[in-house]
Amino acid sequence: MLSEVLLVSAPGKVILHGEHAVVHGKVALAVALNLRTFLRLQPHSNGKVDLSLPNIGIKWAWDVARLQLLDTSFLEQGDITTPTPELVEKLKEVAGLPEDCAVTESLAVLAFLYLYLSICRKQRWTKEDLELINKWAFQGERVIHGNPSGVDNAVSTWGGALRYQQGKISSLKRPPALQILLTNTKVPRNTRTLVAGVRNRLLKFPEIVAPLLTSIDAISLECERVLGEMGEAPAPEQYLVLEELIDMNQHHLNALGVGHASLDQLCQVTRARGLHSKLTGAGGGGCGITLLKPGLEQPEVEAMKQALTSCGFDCWETSIGAPGVSIHSATSLDSQVQQALDGL
Ligand code: PMV
Repeated sequence: MLSEVLLVSAPGKVILHGEHAVVHGKVALAVALNLRTFLRLQPHSNGKVDLSLPNIGIKWAWDVARLQLLDTSFLEQGDITTPTPELVEKLKEVAGLPEDCAVTESLAVLAFLYLYLSICRKQRWTKEDLELINKWAFQGERVIHGNPSGVDNAVSTWGGALRYQQGKISSLKRPPALQILLTNTKVPRNTRTLVAGVRNRLLKFPEIVAPLLTSIDAISLECERVLGEMGEAPAPEQYLVLEELIDMNQHHLNALGVGHASLDQLCQVTRARGLHSKLTGAGGGGCGITLLKPGLEQPEVEAMKQALTSCGFDCWETSIGAPGVSIHSATSLDSQVQQALDGL
């Protein structure tokens, strides 16, 4: 299937505001991070395709001839096919996964296999190719969590800072280079269950929950306005507004039932140092973001990272607005990335 080495990277992403509300047609603001995942596709002469995802402890190999036999229909289609439950079951058989397995790791394997079998390889991506990648990534999301809004795949494909509402995407023209701390509480959670929980709460208490979603929508719009203003004429007061928006949204997300004690702890630890945090994504554990204001001394950031690490969390300091999914030549790769790929 593959005749030469292909190097690809995709940005990490966070939702600044609008998670969960976006599933109900509201606005979300999402940004690509300067933390990238690299993928090396390398031809083998042993007739196998190997998948190695060291960060989640996955090493898998399949016989290419068997895959081709099974999935010729996929490969002949130029357009997107939806991962129907039957197709996912078939993939599980091919992947050698047990029938009842639904753990994140297995879903990652299935999503890889599905996309691997379906996407044609190219050396340079046009806008049309990126549109296709975005659509495929959306289908990959469907394998993982059923009913995604589409915001995650959009920001990973296009990069930058995006406003997203019901499939309509607009890029913020000049997003400010905000520094943030991304913290992984390492508390596992299931996006599908959390999204369903919010839906149930909305059905049970429409008069209470619908206004929360409307308020989150307004927070996203206000944040978009302030980020636009910061791109044009940055001023310290704008950070105060961003911090207030973060706090209000975090409270709303707690009221939607997607908070977690670990996320409360993140907010408290950073608040004690004058910084503001909120969960990002589905919540229930997972990751949170903390806004790092300009003028913060590096020792203060280090002390905060230390405090969060001693809670058992992982932290990365990064900036927002990174490029979307990209192809690289081997020579253009950072030596650290090259070494990490060589060590696989
Ligand atoms: O599962 P995550 O952390 O990538 O975030 C999902 C974001 C939600 O708004 C909760 C769901 C969605 O599809 O937009």
